[in-house]
Amino acid sequence: MAKPVILIVDDDPIVCSSMVEMLGLQGYGVRTAPDGETALEHLQNTTVDVIISDVSMPGMSGFDLLDKVRERGGDPDLIFITAYGNIEDAVAAIKRGAYNYVVKPIDDEEIKLMVKRCIERRSMKAENRDLRHQINGKLGFDNLIGEDPKMQRIYQVVEAVADTRTTVLITGPSGTGKTLIARAIHYNSSRARRPLIEVNCGALPDTLLESELFGHVRGAFTGAVSDKPGKFERANGGTIFLDEISTASPALQIKLLRVLQERCFECVGGTQTYYTDVRVILATNTNLTQLVQQGRFRKDLYYRVNVVSIDMPPLRERLGDIPLLAVHFLKLACERLGRKIESFDAHTMEILIHYPWPGNIRELANVIERSVMLARGVQITFEDLPAELLKGTSKVHLNENILPLRIALEEPERQIIEKALIFNNWNRHKTADMLDVNRSTLFTKMRKYGLVSPPRT
Ligand SMILES: Nc1ncnc2c1ncn2[C@@H]1O[C@H](COP(=O)(O)OP(=O)(O)OP(=O)(O)O)[C@@H](O)[C@H]1O
Ligand SMILES: [Mg+2]
Repeated sequence: MAKPVILIVDDDPIVCSSMVEMLGLQGYGVRTAPDGETALEHLQNTTVDVIISDVSMPGMSGFDLLDKVRERGGDPDLIFITAYGNIEDAVAAIKRGAYNYVVKPIDDEEIKLMVKRCIERRSMKAENRDLRHQINGKLGFDNLIGEDPKMQRIYQVVEAVADTRTTVLITGPSGTGKTLIARAIHYNSSRARRPLIEVNCGALPDTLLESELFGHVRGAFTGAVSDKPGKFERANGGTIFLDEISTASPALQIKLLRVLQERCFECVGGTQTYYTDVRVILATNTNLTQLVQQGRFRKDLYYRVNVVSIDMPPLRERLGDIPLLAVHFLKLACERLGRKIESFDAHTMEILIHYPWPGNIRELANVIERSVMLARGVQITFEDLPAELLKGTSKVHLNENILPLRIALEEPERQIIEKALIFNNWNRHKTADMLDVNRSTLFTKMRKYGLVSPPRT
């Protein structure tokens, strides 16, 4: 495990230097800052486990520092140093979420023990978090809803590759479940107890991304006040998931190629070579072959990342899964919102099945959550759906051309049979049962309307 890092924040240089010596001898990495602002700068560049801070300092107080650290999502524990007689400060500190406090003059043994306990508690918490992730991840795999043959094939690939170090490229439009599949691969591998680090390559500017991934050494660029390990180092023994890989700059592509080929890299501004045992999973919703043809993605890198690829189908190609997913999201939304809605009425389900879902599963989940909020009864009705889903659904009902009944009913009949066939993956037996007709009637009507099943892919 990496050496725990302690940051001392005190405007008194004597306090700082004596703590550096005392805690340094205990094997911790110790940094110091004379005030809250400098401490916050440190936190941007270094992972800190424990902050030991004076309460009253010029400028930002210790309490303000604690608030700012939490606002920025930091999780180091804070130990406050307070003057003898200011016991109410100490109580306030604990209430604000500090780990503990010590009273001046500082007793070396007391602070050593406190820091030791604090670090032990942190590592226990981290272990629990890993375990929880692992359990959630496993459940996530079970919770991957979908029985369409296309999904069945994907599950088989996930199972086959999970426990290998093979690089996996997951492609497919946004919202089709790429991230979920990446997690399923990690949590079904023997790396499950090690970290899964997810990086959205599209969300950071190039230079920052490079330092995020590979770390940097002190002085590598303005603001790099200390060494910072990168995500490839932190993911050692585990998995790194590089999302939106198509956005990687040419310089980053070269570094990625090296890491994939030789499993080694250098930090930004550093000369030392690090070896890492990381499983790499990548995702993109852009066609990488096209980018290769346009010279925007390195061919050699493409071959390295495209060892095993999983192509997530858009939701409109998994019609039979829509009711399953809809019911799954209905249950989740009801739990989250404390509602009791049991189902969708038949018309609503039909609308859900025939909407093209450009935003795929994410859009379906959002639509259902919104409907649950709006629904008044124990069923979701079409009135609870957003307007764009209802466009075009009333064509049949509003047709004003009066035709002989036999002819007027042909188009709706054809539509119903086609929907039922698609719903049942063109299984005629199931379709005939669903429509409550015998199979020969179904075959006759399929011939009449020219309904043929699409070729298997
Ligand atoms: N098979 C599935 N079963 C249940 N929920 C799913 C399934 N696939 C996706 N989801 C849910 O749909 C949402 C979108 O999935 P996810 O984030 O994995 O998509 P994505 O392809 O990674 O999208 P993007 O390209 O935008 O990153 C998530 O809330 C996810 O939990
Ligand atoms: Mg994603």
